[in-house]
Amino acid sequence: MADRGPHIVIALILSAVLFGFTPMHEGHHDEGAAPRTDSSSAVGSAKSETAPQHETAYTLKFWRSLRGHLHNKIVHVPIGFVLSAFFLSLLAFRRPELNSAIRWLVLAAAFGSLLAYLTGTGQAEFFDGGGKEWLVDMHERFAIATAAVLWGWAAAFWVQILSRYRFFFGTAAMLLVMATAFLGGVIAHG
Ligand code: HEM
Repeated sequence: MADRGPHIVIALILSAVLFGFTPMHEGHHDEGAAPRTDSSSAVGSAKSETAPQHETAYTLKFWRSLRGHLHNKIVHVPIGFVLSAFFLSLLAFRRPELNSAIRWLVLAAAFGSLLAYLTGTGQAEFFDGGGKEWLVDMHERFAIATAAVLWGWAAAFWVQILSRYRFFFGTAAMLLVMATAFLGGVIAHG
């Protein structure tokens, strides 16, 4: 147990670094969205590029900001954990003992994908009838594939017969989460 400590620490540091460098949400270019009526959809949004240079300082209302655009915040969980788990999987070819830490990162990513799914479907309705509706549908299909593969990857750590497919699942999860996140970024920012 004691020899696992350093690997868990490395895994946590990697996750923190990847979270830290994941670009933050800087506002929307909602040309493709249907007109929004929900006031929470405006929470935390920056003004457009044409905003005057001397705006009054933004007032952070913590709980309100936390709830608004929840999907845009939650998505960093699966993305960050998948990236760190995949990176450690490459190192695990030389250091198989890393697998004991990787499986928890993968499990965290799999649960994160469920949260991303639940929050995403809530926000998707704002795009119903808009020009980006087809993009949201495609994003959703990629998200479902991502979540399915992530759970497969997690199972490959606990179900012996699947263990030989770990790297296959990991590579597929990495590619799918990147494609899903790319589509999500296009929906949010154009
Ligand atoms: C593994 C699951 C998912 C991941 C990793 C993911 C990732 C992302 C990312 C990275 C963004 C851009 C966020 C930003 O730049 O602020 C985004 C936006 C979005 N996603 Fe997802 N997503 C997932 C699941 C879903 C699902 C299932 C739906 C339902 C259709 C969905 C609907 C949306 C919508 C509507 C936006 C635009 C939100 C806005 O800015 O108004 N996502 N997603």
